[in-house]
Amino acid sequence: MRNVLGIDLGGTKIAAGIVNENGEILEHKIINTRAKDGKDAVLNNIVSLIEKLSNEKTVGVGITSPGFVNTDTGFISFAGNISGWSGINLKEEILKLKYIKNLVVENDANMALLAEVWEGSAKGFDSSVMLTLGTGLGGGLYIKNTGIILGSNFKAGELGHTILYPNGRECNCGQKGCAERYIAGTALATNYNEITGKDLCSKEVIELIDRDLNAAKALDKMISDLAIFITTISNFIDPELVVLGGGFTDSKDIWWEKLIDYYRKYSNSKDKPILKTAKFKNFAGLIGVAKAVFDKSLGGERNE
Ligand code: BGC
Ligand code: NA
Ligand code: ZN
Repeated sequence: MRNVLGIDLGGTKIAAGIVNENGEILEHKIINTRAKDGKDAVLNNIVSLIEKLSNEKTVGVGITSPGFVNTDTGFISFAGNISGWSGINLKEEILKLKYIKNLVVENDANMALLAEVWEGSAKGFDSSVMLTLGTGLGGGLYIKNTGIILGSNFKAGELGHTILYPNGRECNCGQKGCAERYIAGTALATNYNEITGKDLCSKEVIELIDRDLNAAKALDKMISDLAIFITTISNFIDPELVVLGGGFTDSKDIWWEKLIDYYRKYSNSKDKPILKTAKFKNFAGLIGVAKAVFDKSLGGERNE
């Protein structure tokens, strides 16, 4: 069976995997990165992953990126969470370093949703919205028969840059008060550090939840903001399903019920949309972009 190499660029790591036509990962590799490492380090890491993982059955490579990704040309007009990434043409940069046939570049959260629609939590639903709570807040919009909505400037589904608090925290997109600054893996730490003057990361804040009232407060605020956000999405596009993914959902056991309670409190439609967590977790992006390569470059599924 043919396979595709999917590569998912995150703010703190690059995940790469060989994916077959059933959406199964045959082999994978994860590299830790730092946002400040910058463009060349990321590009070299991508190329070395391609060299290590591709095999004779690999018929294409798909790469996800945060930011506004022109999926026709590979141009990324904005990407806040990798330094030096805004304004590059990712396809051209990769092709300068290595010839690759069937190279596809897509937005990370859009591809996480595509994976969930293909073989995950959103399979069988006619409309769904994805929120990825990681370094940033990613979004994706899917409608059956149309697919992932891209928009007129490849900005559709950039839900993280919806303004939640006018004149609020500064966002690296140039706006103030973006949802991403209040709802994301990193935002929990921001909430906590703002109250306490400390400098913890979100994982450390989660560990303090049972012992530190300020940690509980920081989490409560973020979950309330998330419920407000889902309420807005529901009124905006009325999807059947909202899927939550990204590293932050690892801690869902401690906040899921709270989220449902807040949602019921704020929303005018208490039980809709359905809320679920992502099936593929950290692998959603790479599986989704592999699917995009199969669909785009190779004319859909074909088992042999
Ligand atoms: C970017 C999105 C991306 C999200 C998650 C946001 O800052 O604008 O394109 O999906 O982060 O990486
Ligand atoms: Na998106
Ligand atoms: Zn923003």
